[in-house]
Amino acid sequence: MFSIRLLALELTNVAFVVSVVFSHKHTMVVATRTFLGVLLGATIVSSQLTWGSTEFLFTFGDSYTTDGFNISAGVDSPVPGFTSSNGPNWVQALGGTYNITSTKVFNLASGGATIDSNLVQPYLPTVLSIVDQVEQFEQFLSNKPAGVQWNSSNSLFALWIGINDVGNSYAWPNISSSAQQHQFHKTLMTTLFSQVEKLYVSGARSFLFLTVPPTNRAPLILQQGSEAVAKISAALDDYNAQLALNVKSLQAKHRDLGQVSLFDTRPIFNTLLDNAKTLGFVNATGFCDAYQNGTPDTNTQIAPCAPVSSYFWLNTLHPLFTVHNILAHAIATSLSTSA
Ligand SMILES: *[C@@H]1O[C@H](CO)[C@@H](O)[C@H](O)[C@H]1NC(C)=O
Ligand SMILES: *[C@@H]1O[C@H](CO)[C@@H](O)[C@H](O)[C@H]1NC(C)=O
Ligand SMILES: *[C@@H]1O[C@H](CO)[C@@H](O)[C@H](O)[C@H]1NC(C)=O
Ligand SMILES: *[C@@H]1O[C@H](CO)[C@@H](O)[C@H](O)[C@H]1NC(C)=O
Ligand SMILES: *[C@@H]1O[C@H](CO)[C@@H](O)[C@H](O)[C@H]1NC(C)=O
Repeated sequence: MFSIRLLALELTNVAFVVSVVFSHKHTMVVATRTFLGVLLGATIVSSQLTWGSTEFLFTFGDSYTTDGFNISAGVDSPVPGFTSSNGPNWVQALGGTYNITSTKVFNLASGGATIDSNLVQPYLPTVLSIVDQVEQFEQFLSNKPAGVQWNSSNSLFALWIGINDVGNSYAWPNISSSAQQHQFHKTLMTTLFSQVEKLYVSGARSFLFLTVPPTNRAPLILQQGSEAVAKISAALDDYNAQLALNVKSLQAKHRDLGQVSLFDTRPIFNTLLDNAKTLGFVNATGFCDAYQNGTPDTNTQIAPCAPVSSYFWLNTLHPLFTVHNILAHAIATSLSTSA
């Protein structure tokens, strides 16, 4: 996992913390020195958020993240629990199973979302992009309505986006060279981080960014053959590399951030898929047609398929709640141990 973590350092404590890190992690001195160089050069942290002190979690994203909550219907409107995972998704697992401190979740994600509908058109015009979702945050939440007394030190802003940006654009003829694609991803990043900047201006200080998972291993892409797999793999690598760079730039730009992490989803997906049989996933490359639009129960079984809960992929693009649960578990641990 590649995590960028900010230590809560008072200026006077810097030397002390540096020496502790160096004396306890001899083998990592070189990497740590570079890492701390970035940190110390750029970041003085005002407060430190961990998962156990996160009172408000605001999430932004696409079908991997939405649970059907519609903030336009009111901040107190119910969470219908409509997910793409045939059960609780990572946000619900964080707010439920791994909820330590009565964290309140406001999930602004929208199925099919891209960063900006003007850059990458979503599959339906009604889909709310990250630009739209941040606008909703500004409209409904930034003024801290009753019951949502969030502030800079008790709130985490999580963004998991890019699956559809890459998925919808990787095959465009007008960005067929890797240089053009790189440039286009740069444009996407500029827009994404302009939205992060809006959140910052509203008071957001702690951020969690998730990398785009290896959708090159999703049935949707596998079905299209090795050329599509190779093409999207390259696009995903470039997008995720740029995401990491932009998270670093964000940290360099602002000296008063709380916890900022880049959580890499790829090792989890790859480990589960590489070890599917051992871990009880019946098929790492396919899904069961009978389940693809969801089933009445989380463990419905329709012969000849194994129970739906035994699959990794519910359909062409979406992993099951079992995968989301493992993700949420790892995210909760990461957020808890990084301070
Ligand atoms: C969300 O609620 C608003 C206001 O009630 C409504 O206009 C809109 O259609 C709803 N969106 C969805 C996706 O249900
Ligand atoms: C987290 O747990 C608390 C109770 O411990 C509950 O009030 C809160 O609603 C939970 N959060 C979510 C998102 O379910
Ligand atoms: C943020 O709210 C928490 C209570 O949720 C409070 O303890 C803390 O002092 C507040 N921080 C700021 C900077 O207002
Ligand atoms: C590239 O092509 C796509 C798909 O046809 C289109 O939506 C997009 O606007 C084009 N982008 C540029 C920069 O021309
Ligand atoms: C797994 O999925 C692939 C692709 O749909 C299919 O060809 C294969 O038969 C499936 N294997 C099992 C064990 O269901």
